[in-house]
Amino acid sequence: MLQTIVTRRPEETHALGESWAGEAAPGWIIGLVGHLGAGKTQLVKGIAKGLGITSRVQSPTFTLVHEYSGGRFPLYHLDLYRLEDEAAIRSAGLDQ
Ligand SMILES: Nc1ncnc2c1ncn2[C@@H]1O[C@H](COP(=O)(O)OP(=O)(O)O)[C@@H](O)[C@H]1O
Ligand SMILES: [Mg+2]
Repeated sequence: MLQTIVTRRPEETHALGESWAGEAAPGWIIGLVGHLGAGKTQLVKGIAKGLGITSRVQSPTFTLVHEYSGGRFPLYHLDLYRLEDEAAIRSAGLDQ
């Protein structure tokens, strides 16, 4: 079932991520689609907090992958917007 959730403040988006982390299991993939400043990183910060990760979550704009450990399980934050097609994703080693 498709559900729409509207958040009106950064704290609400953060709290939403935190609640998702409570249900998350290793292997989950969450796709975030939205323009710059849409709140994607804010959501990831909430997910990290909910997993018990204490290190600072940064936007992966200049790095393809950020790995955060120290939580219930590792969190991988990938930025795919510069990878144009499947071949580019494979050659970046992100297909596993
Ligand atoms: N409802 C909201 N949810 C998330 N961020 C919000 C919201 N309202 C305003 N903001 C602000 O918008 C910005 C979102 O930035 P960020 O999470 O880095 O976006 P993105 O990663 O999508 O580029 C932050 O400065 C945040 O404070
Ligand atoms: Mg971001």
